[in-house]
Amino acid sequence: MASDSSAAPDPLTVGRYTASSVLVSAVDLQARVRALGEEITADYVGREPLLVGVLKGAFMFMSDLARAIDLPVEFDFMAVSSYGHSTRSSGVVRIVKDLDLDLAGRDVILVEDIIDSGLTLNYLRRNLLARNPASLEVCALLVRENHKVDDSILRYEGYRVPSDFLVGYGLDVDEKFRNLPDVRIVKVASDEVPEGPEGEVESAA
Ligand code: IMP
Ligand code: MG
Repeated sequence: MASDSSAAPDPLTVGRYTASSVLVSAVDLQARVRALGEEITADYVGREPLLVGVLKGAFMFMSDLARAIDLPVEFDFMAVSSYGHSTRSSGVVRIVKDLDLDLAGRDVILVEDIIDSGLTLNYLRRNLLARNPASLEVCALLVRENHKVDDSILRYEGYRVPSDFLVGYGLDVDEKFRNLPDVRIVKVASDEVPEGPEGEVESAA
């Protein structure tokens, strides 16, 4: 990871947040996403997978992934909010924007930015399976080393990552840094773990 040492980017500071050390470079991300797209292409030959992205975090990954899949694909998105800290999932999830398409009989690939505890994923899998897709697989760009989901449900994954709070390539802290082309570790001025307000956090994903 972060082997693209030629592009050591400047630290970026927005308010009290600084995104400095690059965990996965833009070059590495693009190569990994292409490889995931090729894997999906090979696995779904003859089928038309439906990519379901979880807003907002997965939007950038999903758009690059879709272009790396050499099959007819369709898209849908859902948005969820979780109750609890903005940086910690409680597993109590509310659907803020539901899907437009019917999943019945479809080969669905759920596209996530990062599996942290896995609580959001567990909820979403149960919810989507209840809609009777022909198949349901998960494609996550980042997966925490200490996640708490059954590894067998993580069919496609980009990188295993440590517990640092990450931003870039769709991931945010307080809505910042989503447009970075790489994934970076974010620090707050006080050097504390960034914390959001208690209560419902809209679009925590
Ligand atoms: P989980 O339910 O604990 O797996 O939390 C999953 C969601 O929390 C992800 O889809 C992200 O939206 C968010 N999240 C978890 N870790 C990070 C991070 O390091 N940066 C940005 N968002 C994160
Ligand atoms: Mg997410």
